[in-house]
Amino acid sequence: MANSYISSKEIISMKSNGEKIVGLTAWDYLSGKFADKSGAEIVLVGDSLSMTIRGDKNTLSISLEEMIYHSRMVARAVERAIVIGDMPFMSYQVSPQQALENAGRFVKEGMVQAVKIEGGRIMAETVKKITKAGIPVMGHIGLTPQSIHQVGGLKVQAKQVEEARDLVNDALSLEEAGAFCVVLECVPAPLAGYISNRLTIPTIGIGAGSSCDGQIQVSADVLGLLTDVNPKHAKKYANLAEVISRAYSDYVSEVKQGIFPTEANSFPASTELLKAIEREEFIES
Ligand code: KIV
Repeated sequence: MANSYISSKEIISMKSNGEKIVGLTAWDYLSGKFADKSGAEIVLVGDSLSMTIRGDKNTLSISLEEMIYHSRMVARAVERAIVIGDMPFMSYQVSPQQALENAGRFVKEGMVQAVKIEGGRIMAETVKKITKAGIPVMGHIGLTPQSIHQVGGLKVQAKQVEEARDLVNDALSLEEAGAFCVVLECVPAPLAGYISNRLTIPTIGIGAGSSCDGQIQVSADVLGLLTDVNPKHAKKYANLAEVISRAYSDYVSEVKQGIFPTEANSFPASTELLKAIEREEFIES
């Protein structure tokens, strides 16, 4: 667990200092360790893990208990970055009181240092309530995957002027409510640039262009772990799916051919034990 991690205040200062902020998602101890060592300032235990790691069709079914379980693993690994827990569907939408109680559980049991919630103006009261209790909140607007049934799919948002106006006001309202940064997901790049200029808190983009104050990516996309998804907003910095597939099939093939294990992978026996094996001294008659 972190002794000295990057605080939400430092994330805000990075914007005023003109430093780009970088975020990565993580889902367990190993992915948390790698993300933290990369130099990213934000490690998000995102509910996208329900799709990338559990194989769900969307992010709706993961529970708070399951998110807490993953967060604890990540939090044990991360020493420098701020660990943010993504509040799952229906763990905060019912009322600001419900949201505060569950954000508190995320911090106490999931060992995160901040929480993320989806939604704009409608979440302003909730953001206020959570931040007043001392828990930093990351907002998330634009494409909000927990509203997939309303939005009708994982599509670019705010393409029309009216929706863009709503988005700008959502962002301003989250800032006013006390959010320390706002994720802008899948919105036109110039609009994200405009919002970034209007806010004093940082915007963290995913599919929102280069003018955002920071970027966040789903680690499985960065690593090229998934063969069936290739989102336009992501870039594969490695092809781990290929590397892992090759390693696994080489292993299977070497065992089948008797190439692995070799003497180097085996443990020798003492002379006494060798003799006993030769004389078959083990089975009592
Ligand atoms: O769950 C997630 O991975 C996210 C990112 C898309 C920001 O919310």
